[in-house]
Amino acid sequence: FSLQHANTLGLPAIARHFLRLTDTQQLAELCLDPVLSVLPWRILGGGSNLVLADEINALVIAVELKGRRLLKEDDDAWYITAAAGENWHEFVQWTLAQGWAGLENLSLIPGTVGAAPVQNIGAYGVEIKDSLFELTAYRLSDGQARVFSAAECQFAYRDSCFKQAEADQWLIAEVVFRLPKITSLKTNYGDIEQELQVLGQRTAQAVAQAVIHVRQRKLPDPAVMGNAGSFFKNPIVSNALRASVLAAHPELVSYPAGPAHYKLAAGWLIERAGWKGRQLGPVGMYQKQALVLVNHGGATQHDVVLLTQAVQADVRAQFGVELEAEPVWW
Ligand code: EPU
Repeated sequence: FSLQHANTLGLPAIARHFLRLTDTQQLAELCLDPVLSVLPWRILGGGSNLVLADEINALVIAVELKGRRLLKEDDDAWYITAAAGENWHEFVQWTLAQGWAGLENLSLIPGTVGAAPVQNIGAYGVEIKDSLFELTAYRLSDGQARVFSAAECQFAYRDSCFKQAEADQWLIAEVVFRLPKITSLKTNYGDIEQELQVLGQRTAQAVAQAVIHVRQRKLPDPAVMGNAGSFFKNPIVSNALRASVLAAHPELVSYPAGPAHYKLAAGWLIERAGWKGRQLGPVGMYQKQALVLVNHGGATQHDVVLLTQAVQADVRAQFGVELEAEPVWW
Protein backbone atom coordinates (compact mmCIF):
# COMPACT_ATOMS: atom_id res chain seq x y z
CA PHE A 1 0.00 0.00 0.00
CA SER A 2 1.50 3.34 -1.05
CA LEU A 3 1.78 6.01 1.64
CA GLN A 4 3.05 8.66 -0.76
CA HIS A 5 -0.13 10.70 -0.44
CA ALA A 6 -0.45 9.98 3.28
CA ASN A 7 2.69 11.90 4.29
CA THR A 8 3.04 15.64 3.73
CA LEU A 9 6.71 15.34 2.71
CA GLY A 10 5.45 13.21 -0.18
CA LEU A 11 8.04 10.46 0.28
CA PRO A 12 7.34 7.27 -1.71
CA ALA A 13 6.81 4.70 1.06
CA ILE A 14 5.18 1.29 0.68
CA ALA A 15 3.53 -0.21 3.76
CA ARG A 16 3.45 -4.00 3.99
CA HIS A 17 -0.01 -3.89 5.61
CA PHE A 18 -2.43 -1.01 5.91
CA LEU A 19 -5.70 -0.60 7.75
CA ARG A 20 -8.16 2.23 8.34
CA LEU A 21 -9.38 2.38 11.92
CA THR A 22 -12.88 3.84 12.10
CA ASP A 23 -13.98 2.15 15.33
CA THR A 24 -11.93 1.29 18.41
CA GLN A 25 -13.66 -2.13 18.44
CA GLN A 26 -11.42 -3.09 15.52
CA LEU A 27 -8.41 -3.01 17.85
CA ALA A 28 -9.57 -5.94 19.95
CA GLU A 29 -9.96 -8.02 16.79
CA LEU A 30 -6.54 -6.94 15.52
CA CYS A 31 -4.91 -8.03 18.76
CA LEU A 32 -6.24 -11.55 18.14
CA ASP A 33 -5.32 -11.71 14.45
CA PRO A 34 -2.61 -14.39 14.03
CA VAL A 35 -0.82 -12.56 11.18
CA LEU A 36 -1.28 -8.89 12.00
CA SER A 37 -0.84 -9.08 15.78
CA VAL A 38 2.78 -10.27 15.46
CA LEU A 39 3.83 -7.42 13.15
CA PRO A 40 5.10 -4.09 14.45
CA TRP A 41 2.30 -1.51 14.30
CA ARG A 42 2.70 2.11 13.25
CA ILE A 43 -0.01 4.65 13.97
CA LEU A 44 -0.68 7.16 11.20
CA GLY A 45 -2.46 10.48 11.71
CA GLY A 46 -2.17 13.28 9.17
CA GLY A 47 1.36 12.18 8.23
CA SER A 48 2.62 15.73 8.69
CA ASN A 49 5.50 14.98 11.04
CA LEU A 50 6.93 11.84 9.46
CA VAL A 51 10.00 10.90 7.45
CA LEU A 52 9.15 7.56 5.84
CA ALA A 53 11.51 4.84 4.58
CA ASP A 54 10.87 3.35 1.12
CA GLU A 55 9.49 0.18 2.70
CA ILE A 56 7.60 0.05 5.97
CA ASN A 57 7.67 -3.54 7.18
CA ALA A 58 4.78 -3.10 9.57
CA LEU A 59 1.02 -2.78 9.90
CA VAL A 60 0.24 0.89 9.35
CA ILE A 61 -3.01 1.90 11.06
CA ALA A 62 -4.57 5.09 9.73
CA VAL A 63 -6.65 6.55 12.56
CA GLU A 64 -9.97 7.75 11.14
CA LEU A 65 -11.99 7.95 14.35
CA LYS A 66 -14.42 10.89 14.14
CA GLY A 67 -16.55 12.96 16.49
CA ARG A 68 -16.34 16.07 18.66
CA ARG A 69 -18.62 17.47 21.31
CA LEU A 70 -18.94 19.45 24.52
CA LEU A 71 -18.42 16.87 27.26
CA LYS A 72 -19.35 19.05 30.24
CA GLU A 73 -18.91 22.50 31.68
CA ASP A 74 -18.38 23.91 35.13
CA ASP A 75 -18.20 27.46 36.42
CA ASP A 76 -14.68 27.92 35.14
CA ALA A 77 -14.29 25.97 31.94
CA TRP A 78 -15.65 24.02 29.01
CA TYR A 79 -14.50 20.45 28.52
CA ILE A 80 -14.48 19.45 24.88
CA THR A 81 -13.72 16.01 23.57
CA ALA A 82 -12.55 15.13 20.06
CA ALA A 83 -11.75 11.83 18.37
CA ALA A 84 -8.20 11.28 17.16
CA GLY A 85 -9.05 11.29 13.45
CA GLU A 86 -10.53 14.80 13.46
CA ASN A 87 -8.53 17.33 11.45
CA TRP A 88 -6.73 19.58 13.93
CA HIS A 89 -7.29 22.91 12.19
CA GLU A 90 -10.99 22.23 11.54
CA PHE A 91 -11.41 21.24 15.17
CA VAL A 92 -9.79 24.48 16.37
CA GLN A 93 -11.97 26.60 14.08
CA TRP A 94 -15.08 24.73 15.30
CA THR A 95 -14.22 25.45 18.96
CA LEU A 96 -13.80 29.14 18.11
CA ALA A 97 -17.12 29.21 16.26
CA GLN A 98 -18.80 27.83 19.42
CA GLY A 99 -17.26 30.69 21.41
CA TRP A 100 -14.70 28.53 23.22
CA ALA A 101 -11.35 30.31 23.07
CA GLY A 102 -7.92 28.94 23.93
CA LEU A 103 -6.68 27.07 20.88
CA GLU A 104 -6.61 30.02 18.44
CA ASN A 105 -2.80 30.31 18.37
CA LEU A 106 -2.63 26.71 17.14
CA SER A 107 -4.65 27.41 13.98
CA LEU A 108 -3.50 25.99 10.65
CA ILE A 109 -1.16 23.39 12.13
CA PRO A 110 -1.42 20.38 9.81
CA GLY A 111 -2.38 16.95 11.13
CA THR A 112 -4.96 15.32 13.36
CA VAL A 113 -6.22 15.73 16.92
CA GLY A 114 -4.72 12.36 17.90
CA ALA A 115 -1.25 13.18 16.60
CA ALA A 116 -1.15 16.64 18.19
CA PRO A 117 -0.26 15.50 21.76
CA VAL A 118 2.51 13.16 20.56
CA GLN A 119 4.86 16.04 19.84
CA ASN A 120 3.03 18.61 22.00
CA ILE A 121 2.34 20.86 19.02
CA GLY A 122 3.03 24.52 19.64
CA ALA A 123 3.05 27.88 17.94
CA TYR A 124 3.03 31.58 18.80
CA GLY A 125 3.60 31.10 22.50
CA VAL A 126 1.00 28.34 23.07
CA GLU A 127 1.36 24.57 23.31
CA ILE A 128 -1.36 21.90 23.30
CA LYS A 129 -0.27 20.94 26.83
CA ASP A 130 -1.69 24.28 28.05
CA SER A 131 -5.27 23.12 27.38
CA LEU A 132 -5.10 19.34 27.22
CA PHE A 133 -7.05 17.87 30.14
CA GLU A 134 -6.67 14.15 29.51
CA LEU A 135 -6.60 11.64 26.69
CA THR A 136 -7.66 8.05 26.10
CA ALA A 137 -5.19 5.70 24.45
CA TYR A 138 -5.30 1.98 23.63
CA ARG A 139 -2.31 -0.21 24.39
CA LEU A 140 -1.26 -1.88 21.14
CA SER A 141 -0.10 -5.09 22.85
CA ASP A 142 -3.49 -5.98 24.30
CA GLY A 143 -6.04 -3.39 23.15
CA GLN A 144 -6.71 -2.15 26.69
CA ALA A 145 -7.82 1.47 27.08
CA ARG A 146 -6.12 3.80 29.52
CA VAL A 147 -6.77 7.43 30.43
CA PHE A 148 -3.64 9.61 30.63
CA SER A 149 -3.82 12.83 32.62
CA ALA A 150 -1.91 15.77 31.16
CA ALA A 151 0.88 15.18 33.72
CA GLU A 152 1.16 11.52 32.73
CA CYS A 153 1.75 12.54 29.11
CA GLN A 154 5.09 14.10 30.23
CA PHE A 155 4.85 17.01 27.87
CA ALA A 156 7.96 18.99 27.00
CA TYR A 157 9.07 21.17 24.10
CA ARG A 158 7.88 19.21 21.00
CA ASP A 159 7.86 16.08 23.11
CA SER A 160 5.76 13.67 25.22
CA CYS A 161 5.97 10.11 26.55
CA PHE A 162 4.35 9.01 23.26
CA LYS A 163 7.48 10.10 21.39
CA GLN A 164 9.91 8.75 24.03
CA ALA A 165 9.50 5.90 26.52
CA GLU A 166 6.07 4.88 25.24
CA ALA A 167 6.77 5.36 21.51
CA ASP A 168 4.81 3.00 19.22
CA GLN A 169 3.01 1.42 22.18
CA TRP A 170 -0.26 3.37 22.22
CA LEU A 171 -2.98 4.48 19.88
CA ILE A 172 -4.41 7.80 21.01
CA ALA A 173 -8.15 7.59 20.37
CA GLU A 174 -9.68 10.65 22.04
CA VAL A 175 -8.46 13.89 23.54
CA VAL A 176 -10.27 16.06 26.10
CA PHE A 177 -9.50 19.77 26.26
CA ARG A 178 -10.22 22.13 29.12
CA LEU A 179 -10.85 25.62 27.80
CA PRO A 180 -11.25 28.23 30.57
CA LYS A 181 -14.24 30.58 30.30
CA ILE A 182 -12.06 33.54 31.12
CA THR A 183 -9.20 33.65 28.67
CA SER A 184 -6.46 36.07 27.88
CA LEU A 185 -5.28 36.38 24.31
CA LYS A 186 -1.60 35.60 23.72
CA THR A 187 -0.43 38.02 21.11
CA ASN A 188 3.12 38.90 22.08
CA TYR A 189 4.91 36.44 19.79
CA GLY A 190 6.43 37.60 16.51
CA ASP A 191 4.14 39.38 14.08
CA ILE A 192 0.82 38.50 15.74
CA GLU A 193 0.26 41.88 17.38
CA GLN A 194 1.03 43.65 14.11
CA GLU A 195 -1.50 41.49 12.23
CA LEU A 196 -4.14 42.22 14.87
CA GLN A 197 -3.66 45.96 14.38
CA VAL A 198 -4.37 45.46 10.70
CA LEU A 199 -7.47 43.36 11.46
CA GLY A 200 -8.66 46.01 13.93
CA GLN A 201 -10.13 43.45 16.39
CA ARG A 202 -9.00 41.74 19.58
CA THR A 203 -11.01 38.52 19.70
CA ALA A 204 -9.89 34.89 19.73
CA GLN A 205 -11.19 34.59 16.15
CA ALA A 206 -9.06 37.58 15.14
CA VAL A 207 -5.98 35.98 16.71
CA ALA A 208 -6.74 32.84 14.68
CA GLN A 209 -6.90 34.98 11.53
CA ALA A 210 -3.61 36.67 12.44
CA VAL A 211 -1.92 33.31 12.99
CA ILE A 212 -3.31 32.00 9.70
CA HIS A 213 -1.94 35.02 7.84
CA VAL A 214 1.53 34.74 9.40
CA ARG A 215 1.72 31.00 8.73
CA GLN A 216 0.56 31.38 5.13
CA ARG A 217 3.25 33.99 4.56
CA LYS A 218 6.13 31.97 6.01
CA LEU A 219 5.31 28.28 5.74
CA PRO A 220 4.88 26.27 2.53
CA ASP A 221 1.49 24.63 1.94
CA PRO A 222 2.17 20.86 1.93
CA ALA A 223 -0.41 20.47 -0.84
CA VAL A 224 1.84 22.60 -3.05
CA MET A 225 5.34 21.76 -1.77
CA GLY A 226 6.10 18.68 0.32
CA ASN A 227 7.28 19.49 3.85
CA ALA A 228 6.89 18.45 7.49
CA GLY A 229 6.85 21.87 9.14
CA SER A 230 9.85 22.83 11.23
CA PHE A 231 12.40 20.13 10.55
CA PHE A 232 14.70 20.76 13.51
CA LYS A 233 13.94 21.68 17.10
CA ASN A 234 15.15 25.04 18.31
CA PRO A 235 18.23 23.87 20.27
CA ILE A 236 18.33 24.50 24.01
CA VAL A 237 21.92 25.28 25.03
CA SER A 238 23.81 26.33 28.16
CA ASN A 239 24.23 30.02 28.99
CA ALA A 240 27.96 29.55 28.33
CA LEU A 241 27.52 28.15 24.82
CA ARG A 242 25.01 30.87 23.97
CA ALA A 243 27.42 33.51 25.25
CA SER A 244 30.24 32.21 23.08
CA VAL A 245 28.05 32.12 19.95
CA LEU A 246 26.73 35.60 20.78
CA ALA A 247 30.25 36.99 21.15
CA ALA A 248 31.06 35.95 17.59
CA HIS A 249 27.57 36.76 16.22
CA PRO A 250 25.91 39.65 18.07
CA GLU A 251 22.78 39.32 15.88
CA LEU A 252 22.06 35.78 17.18
CA VAL A 253 18.33 35.22 17.88
CA SER A 254 17.81 33.51 21.26
CA TYR A 255 15.29 33.36 24.11
CA PRO A 256 15.84 32.54 27.81
CA ALA A 257 14.75 28.96 28.62
CA GLY A 258 14.99 28.64 32.39
CA PRO A 259 17.79 29.96 34.59
CA ALA A 260 20.73 28.13 33.00
CA HIS A 261 19.68 27.76 29.37
CA TYR A 262 18.77 29.58 26.19
CA LYS A 263 16.73 28.47 23.22
CA LEU A 264 18.40 29.44 19.95
CA ALA A 265 16.45 30.08 16.74
CA ALA A 266 17.45 27.11 14.57
CA GLY A 267 16.14 28.95 11.49
CA TRP A 268 18.65 31.71 12.16
CA LEU A 269 21.54 29.25 12.60
CA ILE A 270 20.62 27.39 9.39
CA GLU A 271 20.26 30.63 7.44
CA ARG A 272 23.67 31.85 8.67
CA ALA A 273 25.18 28.48 7.78
CA GLY A 274 24.15 29.24 4.21
CA TRP A 275 21.31 26.75 3.84
CA LYS A 276 18.30 29.04 3.42
CA GLY A 277 16.85 28.34 -0.03
CA ARG A 278 19.70 25.92 -0.80
CA GLN A 279 19.11 22.45 -2.23
CA LEU A 280 20.93 19.14 -1.92
CA GLY A 281 19.56 16.75 -4.53
CA PRO A 282 15.75 16.90 -4.63
CA VAL A 283 15.41 18.39 -1.14
CA GLY A 284 16.31 21.76 0.33
CA MET A 285 15.74 24.23 3.13
CA TYR A 286 12.81 26.55 2.34
CA GLN A 287 13.45 29.95 0.83
CA LYS A 288 11.21 31.87 3.28
CA GLN A 289 11.87 29.85 6.48
CA ALA A 290 15.19 28.03 6.70
CA LEU A 291 13.90 25.67 9.41
CA VAL A 292 11.51 23.94 6.98
CA LEU A 293 12.85 21.12 4.84
CA VAL A 294 11.06 20.91 1.48
CA ASN A 295 10.75 18.21 -1.17
CA HIS A 296 11.21 19.74 -4.61
CA GLY A 297 9.97 16.49 -6.15
CA GLY A 298 11.04 12.85 -6.23
CA ALA A 299 12.84 12.75 -2.87
CA THR A 300 13.29 9.60 -0.78
CA GLN A 301 14.19 9.20 2.89
CA HIS A 302 17.83 8.80 1.86
CA ASP A 303 17.85 12.31 0.34
CA VAL A 304 16.37 13.67 3.57
CA VAL A 305 19.08 11.89 5.60
CA LEU A 306 21.84 13.43 3.47
CA LEU A 307 20.45 16.96 3.83
CA THR A 308 19.81 16.52 7.57
CA GLN A 309 23.42 15.47 8.09
CA ALA A 310 24.80 18.24 5.88
CA VAL A 311 22.87 20.95 7.73
CA GLN A 312 23.76 19.49 11.14
CA ALA A 313 27.45 19.31 10.16
CA ASP A 314 27.59 22.92 8.94
CA VAL A 315 25.79 24.29 12.01
CA ARG A 316 28.06 22.23 14.27
CA ALA A 317 31.19 23.45 12.46
CA GLN A 318 30.15 27.09 12.45
CA PHE A 319 28.50 27.45 15.87
CA GLY A 320 29.33 24.32 17.89
CA VAL A 321 25.59 23.70 18.26
CA GLU A 322 23.86 20.32 17.74
CA LEU A 323 20.57 20.37 15.82
CA GLU A 324 18.08 17.61 16.53
CA ALA A 325 15.62 16.59 13.81
CA GLU A 326 12.06 17.17 14.98
CA PRO A 327 9.88 14.68 13.01
CA VAL A 328 9.39 10.99 13.72
CA TRP A 329 11.30 8.58 11.45
CA TRP A 330 9.85 5.23 10.31
N1 EPU B 1 14.77 33.03 11.57
C1 EPU B 1 15.79 33.39 10.73
N2 EPU B 1 15.85 32.79 9.50
C2 EPU B 1 14.95 31.88 9.08
C3 EPU B 1 13.91 31.51 9.96
C4 EPU B 1 13.83 32.11 11.20
O1 EPU B 1 16.63 34.21 11.04
O2 EPU B 1 15.06 31.40 7.96
C5 EPU B 1 14.63 33.73 12.85
C6 EPU B 1 13.48 34.72 12.75
O3 EPU B 1 13.92 35.96 12.32
C7 EPU B 1 12.97 34.78 14.16
C8 EPU B 1 13.34 33.44 14.74
O4 EPU B 1 14.26 32.84 13.86
O5 EPU B 1 13.63 35.79 14.87
C9 EPU B 1 12.14 32.57 14.98
O6 EPU B 1 11.47 32.29 13.75
P1 EPU B 1 9.91 31.96 13.68
O7 EPU B 1 9.12 32.94 14.44
O8 EPU B 1 9.57 31.74 12.23
O9 EPU B 1 9.74 30.63 14.48
P2 EPU B 1 10.66 29.33 14.61
O10 EPU B 1 11.36 29.36 15.92
O11 EPU B 1 11.48 29.15 13.40
C10 EPU B 1 8.85 27.93 15.88
C11 EPU B 1 8.19 26.60 15.75
C12 EPU B 1 7.12 26.63 14.67
C13 EPU B 1 6.09 27.68 15.06
C14 EPU B 1 6.80 29.04 15.21
C15 EPU B 1 5.88 30.10 15.71
C16 EPU B 1 9.84 24.95 16.40
C17 EPU B 1 10.76 23.84 15.97
N3 EPU B 1 9.17 25.57 15.44
O12 EPU B 1 9.54 28.18 14.65
O13 EPU B 1 6.49 25.37 14.66
O14 EPU B 1 5.07 27.78 14.10
O15 EPU B 1 7.88 28.92 16.16
O16 EPU B 1 5.60 29.85 17.05
O17 EPU B 1 9.73 25.20 17.60
C18 EPU B 1 6.55 23.22 13.64
O18 EPU B 1 6.88 22.76 14.72
O19 EPU B 1 6.40 22.46 12.63
C19 EPU B 1 6.37 24.65 13.48
C20 EPU B 1 6.11 25.22 12.29
